[in-house]
Amino acid sequence: MDDATIAQKALKIHEELDREVDLLRLRMASKPDAHGDHWLTAFASHFRHFHTQLRSHFEMEEEGGFMKPVVDKRPTLSPQIARLREEHRQMRHLCYELEMFVEECRAPSLQQIAHIRERSDEIIDCLKAHEKAENQLIQDAFQLDLGSSE
Ligand SMILES: [Fe+2]
Repeated sequence: MDDATIAQKALKIHEELDREVDLLRLRMASKPDAHGDHWLTAFASHFRHFHTQLRSHFEMEEEGGFMKPVVDKRPTLSPQIARLREEHRQMRHLCYELEMFVEECRAPSLQQIAHIRERSDEIIDCLKAHEKAENQLIQDAFQLDLGSSE
């Protein structure tokens, strides 16, 4: 694969992931029912799906995506790639923790729902900042003009 194809593919899977983030945001914004249990069940199943998508996205980037070609082309960018991998690990951990928290709630209190929303926001914020850094790195490594990376 040439540089432009690797870069375009990386951007494309970020766009796909952004759509998953939008759907998760909609789910988080939905109004809980009186006891919160239906909301929680729907959120739990949606979040499990999101977490699965995220894990396979990270795996794609680490195994067959831009990471290796970037290091091959610009070995001096290795520390940045290592940091991105570490961020993948941290986000997987945050998702795992939230999944465990959700699993332990039954009829969630308003505070627990607020906590779930805050943690989800935190994961999304990390992910957005991470994607931005990745897009920038790809652009720097391949010295391409990829347009907006938002
Ligand atoms: Fe990534």
